[in-house]
Amino acid sequence: MMSKVSPSILSCDFSKLKEDIDSIVNHVEYLHIDVMDGVFVNNISFGIPVIKSIRPHYDIVFDTHLMIVNPERYIDAFASSGADLITFHIEATCDPMNVINLIHEKGLKAGISLRPKTNVNDLKPYLDKVELVLVMSVEPGFGGQKFDPSAIEKIKWLKEQKVINNYNYEIEVDGGINGETGKLCLEAGADVLVSGSYIFNANNRLERINTLK
Ligand code: DX5
Ligand code: ZN
Repeated sequence: MMSKVSPSILSCDFSKLKEDIDSIVNHVEYLHIDVMDGVFVNNISFGIPVIKSIRPHYDIVFDTHLMIVNPERYIDAFASSGADLITFHIEATCDPMNVINLIHEKGLKAGISLRPKTNVNDLKPYLDKVELVLVMSVEPGFGGQKFDPSAIEKIKWLKEQKVINNYNYEIEVDGGINGETGKLCLEAGADVLVSGSYIFNANNRLERINTLK
């Protein structure tokens, strides 16, 4: 299958972040960058200065996943730090269309995401506007959690909508992805697999990436 892999740097050892990214970057399509504010999710990760520091070293697509409240406040800053694709959560803003427009005004691709408990139908008004839909298969906030199979039905529905309406978004899935769960997602219609601990905690990272293709 022609899937894309987006390793989540949340699972890197931050004392050797560049070394960890170098170990996989030529074998994947996107680099997944998880930004957490301690409000939208119960964890704080990293943000703009880290993205800015790594940007000059890589050409790869920076697939930036914002788990922050009121993302509209920071689109400018993430755009100038070097994000290529900015994904925000539908639950984090009262005006998702405004966020999409702000991202597009910066010339970047816009993605919309939803927590496992959010109804996928809520995305309907935005499906013809975004370049990516990110289905969360764990409660956002931490790496290394178990895959929630409710993601599969969402992926199938999104794929159906895409075919029926000729939409252009990629379907990305994030959380608990390994060789097994990744395969289920690809069969359901996913285009991009995010994977953190499965890739970075392995002795042979490239072998793991190959199981996701
Ligand atoms: C969770 C993050 C994920 C996480 C995935 O909130 O959005 O990207 O890093 O990690 P794994 O693949 O270990 O579940
Ligand atoms: Zn993520």
